Amino acid sequence: MLKPVAIAIASVALLGLSPSFTALGIGGRMQTSSFGKTKEGNEITKYTLTNKSGMEASVINFGATLVSLKVPDRNGKFADVVLGYDSVTDYEDGKSYFGGTIGRYGNRIAGGQFTLDGMVFHIPKNDGPNTLHGGTIGFNKRVWTAVDRSRPDAEVLELSYVSPDGEEGYPGALTAKVTYTLPTGKNELRIDYSASTDKDTVVNLTNHSYFNLTGTPSQDILKHELTLRASEFTPVDATLIPTGELRKVAGTPFDFTKSTAIGARINQDDQQLKFGKGYDHNWVLEPDPKGALRLAARVVEPTSGRVLEIETTEPGIQFYSGNFLDGSVHGKGGIAYAYRTGFCLETQHFPDSPNHPNFPSTELKPGQTLHSTTVLKFSTTK
Ligand code: GLA
Repeated sequence: MLKPVAIAIASVALLGLSPSFTALGIGGRMQTSSFGKTKEGNEITKYTLTNKSGMEASVINFGATLVSLKVPDRNGKFADVVLGYDSVTDYEDGKSYFGGTIGRYGNRIAGGQFTLDGMVFHIPKNDGPNTLHGGTIGFNKRVWTAVDRSRPDAEVLELSYVSPDGEEGYPGALTAKVTYTLPTGKNELRIDYSASTDKDTVVNLTNHSYFNLTGTPSQDILKHELTLRASEFTPVDATLIPTGELRKVAGTPFDFTKSTAIGARINQDDQQLKFGKGYDHNWVLEPDPKGALRLAARVVEPTSGRVLEIETTEPGIQFYSGNFLDGSVHGKGGIAYAYRTGFCLETQHFPDSPNHPNFPSTELKPGQTLHSTTVLKFSTTK
């Protein structure tokens, strides 16, 4: 005789639906452990997603943050390839956005203001004269609600956060959802974003992982070889706000259309590199009229053989070469993260879009749902 739970699972399977083991109360395969408490006393949990080959992604419900990502090198040796901290207090105090979900508006908004429907909205300036990554307390510093949505073919963690109307100066209550999916049979982490609002607003969601594919973050990332599927980038002013121009990368140190070491041209005498103190710019990805998932970036780390490919539905990608890391921040295992020991590839809409009508729009209206997907695919090369 089948027990009621087994019958429930069997019937769900027959109906072709994915059973949520947690919802059925029998516990998923996903491992959970305590990640401590925030200063306000919120319990933070670490959720660890694992697949058949041993790839492992850990996410906490503070900031919907990816805290570790373990992938194999060419000899099958696993290592953590993202920077981060060991404690929630460090994530609360941190200013580097390690692995966090960035919102309501990822990247910069000039002068801490934008106009929407003829009204001017003021948002906190937390990066010189500009707003960076949402404001004073962005989505990376909020407590999210996590639900295990694992299916037979994947471990799935869904996190949601409701940002109240007026939070950090943005109009409309925004319901944001971030879903991390680790398929059983593939070494890839899929990140799906969705958002809806009750008033016209602006949204730009991204993940701020810093990668070091050597797995040894005491080494810099300058020998990683990068390809970006972009023939243009958005040049910036001295405060890293786009001028509005889409500039061809050909003939500049911003041309990554062919695989090139990150460090090959980073110290060249170039005005844009000086403004960024290295690379800290948005590349315009080859457009896809249907907004389909397509390859945006490929990174090869020659010593370990690890390869990261990033697919996205987003129109842009911010490549940041860790220029603000200076050894003063101590991360996992107490390691000091020195200059350029991690790089970010933040899939996104362009910086300061609300103030640039020629950029793809970041407006979201009631009744619409924003959908965005980014996939981190890992493999190895000889
Ligand atoms: C983004 C920005 C950088 C920097 C980092 C965080 O990538 O573009 O200028 O602020 O976040 O340090």
